Amino acid sequence: MAQEDLFKKLVSHCKEYGYVFQSSEIYDGLSAVYDYAQYGVELKNNIKKYWWDSMVLLHENIVGLDSAIFMHPSVWKASGHVDAFSDPLVDNKDSKKRYRADVLIEDRMAKFEAKIDKEVTKAKKRFGDSFDEAQFRETNQRVLDNQAKLDELNNRFVKALNDNDLNELKQIILDYEVACPVSGTRNWTDVRQFNLMFSTEMGSTAEGASKVYLRPETAQGIFVNYLNVQKTGRMKLPFGIAQIGKAFRNEIVARQFIFRMREFEQMEMQFFVRPGDEMKWFVHWKAFRMNWHQSLGFGAENYRFHDHDKLAHYANAATDVEYKFPFGFKEVEGIHSRTDFDLKQHQEHSGRKIQYFDPELNESYVPYVVETSIGVDRMFLQVISSSYCEEEIEKNDGSKDSRVVLKLPAFLAPVKLAVFPLVKKDGLPDIARGIIDELKFDFYCQYDEKDSIGKRYRRHDAIGTPFCVTVDHQSVEDGTVTIRHRDSMEQERVKIEDLKNIIGEKVSMKDILKGLTK
Ligand code: GAP
Repeated sequence: MAQEDLFKKLVSHCKEYGYVFQSSEIYDGLSAVYDYAQYGVELKNNIKKYWWDSMVLLHENIVGLDSAIFMHPSVWKASGHVDAFSDPLVDNKDSKKRYRADVLIEDRMAKFEAKIDKEVTKAKKRFGDSFDEAQFRETNQRVLDNQAKLDELNNRFVKALNDNDLNELKQIILDYEVACPVSGTRNWTDVRQFNLMFSTEMGSTAEGASKVYLRPETAQGIFVNYLNVQKTGRMKLPFGIAQIGKAFRNEIVARQFIFRMREFEQMEMQFFVRPGDEMKWFVHWKAFRMNWHQSLGFGAENYRFHDHDKLAHYANAATDVEYKFPFGFKEVEGIHSRTDFDLKQHQEHSGRKIQYFDPELNESYVPYVVETSIGVDRMFLQVISSSYCEEEIEKNDGSKDSRVVLKLPAFLAPVKLAVFPLVKKDGLPDIARGIIDELKFDFYCQYDEKDSIGKRYRRHDAIGTPFCVTVDHQSVEDGTVTIRHRDSMEQERVKIEDLKNIIGEKVSMKDILKGLTK
């Protein structure tokens, strides 16, 4: 299936099966804002739990925080967001559509990448098992030509960003004949900077209302609480503070469903270290976070690091964890070595001393910070994209059928267990209800008695329920039921009293967390 079609299907699947709805849909929606529906909220909570437990429970030296969305306006002045949290935007004069200049250029680069990938895929097909991809990439003339063009464009782009040269960004767009996807023309305005922070007023006008911002990242809530947490928690360096919470950005180009939203959620951890140790910890967190992603079993080949060519002025290293979405490799998480920039800025703007007394060195200093910052919504999209499957299956009578199944890792699935009475009589519904009454304290169960068993299986395949239990007439006689496994569709007969252990073990997060500690 073409990746574009797959993505469209994913979006409509999320709506049809109660995962994600457009915000304010009855009023035709609000652009780039989404609501998580009955199953979406469960999956999202499970993703957050996986992150929280892996960061806070597994690390004695990481503690949690839940800071407010509103913060003192000086925070954003100190952090640099008021002056510099902006994207370069450009308008097409014919369609009146607004774009991020950097995204237009990145899309142009992706076209060169796509050409290279096409050559490689063609050659792979032609040469079969004997294909040496590395050698092909090094020697094929068409690949080399496209790679050279890509490198040239990339170099110009990175230099323009580093120099903050908006004229050069426009010139690149013109030189590479980038056209507006809507009007098809190359009639562009100049490139301008656009601040991404939302603001509102706090307090009544009579009292003198002041401008406050909706936080564009959760990290600053951690920085301004560094001293409080360090002192009250008696934390010793190195230590981390983890937080999950909403962030807001007035994105110019909001697209690709929940990939780029104006209201989204972040899971961030700031790790405070001794100056000079930051590279060691940067390497450590890179490895830990990549392992966290890959432990989900979506295929190591679908992840890569993208080291930043253009570093923010306060960073001395930065990388993105990219995942291969249906629309290509894109950032899911950022890992940044932010030096002592943020704490120093808050020290200067607040007039408070923000330092750590290091008993081993017998000196005080402003700690350095390595942060890991991942978007919950992008993680959600990663999980849904890699789990969505369309399969052809064979029915009992040998005829062909198809199913759509979300092969979610069991510990992330919203509903863990669906219980069906084979028929709505003969005491079977009572036994099914009894199973749910027993197991609902351990995991999310659902009762379903409508339609044929086959249709009930399909419904639960589509929402990703890993286990379906059917109560039949044999259950009345011997207290056994069948469990049907979502992915293999195999069934086994087990005792009702064993269900808790059998399913509990399979939906537990314990093994995956243990794997992260090795
Ligand atoms: N404190 C560092 C920071 O905020 P970032 O790279 O701007 O770094 C971190 O954002 C992560 O937040 C990204 O990797 C992405 O997963 C998520 N994110 C950022 N902007 C987003 C948006 N508009 N919609 C959804 N997720 C977003």
